Amino acid sequence: MDLLKQYGNSLELQLEGVVTTREPAQLYEPIRYILELGGKRLRPILTLMSCDFFGKDHMEAMNAALAVELFHNFSLIHDDIMDNAPLRRGEETVHEKWDLNTGILSGDAMLILAYQLFESYEPKLFRDLARLFSKTAIEVCEGQQFDVDFEQREDVSIDEYIRMIDFKTAVLIGASMKMGAIVAGASSSCQENIYEFGRNLGIAFQLQDDYLDAFGNPDTFGKQIGGDIIANKKTYLYLTALDLCDASESAELKHLYSIRPKDPTDKIAIVKRLFESSGAVEAAQKLILSYTDRANDVLNKIEIPEDRKANLKAFGEWLMNRKV
Ligand code: IPE
Ligand code: IPE
Ligand code: MG
Ligand code: MG
Ligand code: MG
Repeated sequence: MDLLKQYGNSLELQLEGVVTTREPAQLYEPIRYILELGGKRLRPILTLMSCDFFGKDHMEAMNAALAVELFHNFSLIHDDIMDNAPLRRGEETVHEKWDLNTGILSGDAMLILAYQLFESYEPKLFRDLARLFSKTAIEVCEGQQFDVDFEQREDVSIDEYIRMIDFKTAVLIGASMKMGAIVAGASSSCQENIYEFGRNLGIAFQLQDDYLDAFGNPDTFGKQIGGDIIANKKTYLYLTALDLCDASESAELKHLYSIRPKDPTDKIAIVKRLFESSGAVEAAQKLILSYTDRANDVLNKIEIPEDRKANLKAFGEWLMNRKV
């Protein structure tokens, strides 16, 4: 997407400055490594776009954008440890390439580096940004804990699942946009609306991520396909398939999600077949659409000329159809 490239270029340049190699190398090299693996950079791009959208030069929001991307990458390093994931962005995860302790400490350092970036803002902005950042970060931790708790639980509801992905993923996307609005000095109702826009898109985004985790192209998705099935993650696909399947298929699905076979090939194949045949895949696509619509409804409420909303709408559209 051209729009992403446009903001992405200035972002990459600034990110290089944040990631200078320092001593001890064992602490800083993994930070460089994960950041240089790239990724879509969608959260910081949303911060920059939102600042422009509310009428201030996006460069003013650059440090907030960098902070958000550092936080995101910190959360990925720790998430990959928690999910026992071998691959990230098509390469070895940090804890696989180095070891667990390195992943833990380099992740911690990234979180602090993220906070430090807010120090460049004057006191009022600093306070508002730091307050939002802390609230969001603690919610992400709560979401991550729910996600892990759900691996062992058999009675997860769809509402609980939505709350879990709201916290682990959507609030950060909402906060990324709200930070751009804060830096731009937007009114509090504009700040709230752009937060809700991002949050609804974020839920659509995580639903899509869960779909791609099972059905994505291994050459382009960059993560282990079937990782969520291996880890017995109670995703929307799983919960809906359980609802829609007949009794014997439901029992089979439940059984498959109570075991962790050494070779998961068959388990993944059977589960994917049930996700499709039950209609869960279709239901997930519908729900993604519905959250994208909700996002656009909130965007429509913002009193900004319609033509300036085009970029944000295009972004939502792109997100909904992403394959990576
Ligand atoms: C991955 O996020 C983690 C989720 C919340 C699904 P992204 O898909 O934005 O990861 P990168 O930064 O582009 O690699
Ligand atoms: C990630 O959720 C959420 C956070 C990193 C906070 P996932 O575990 O689904 O993300 P991926 O699939 O590993 O990128
Ligand atoms: Mg993960
Ligand atoms: Mg996870
Ligand atoms: Mg995932």
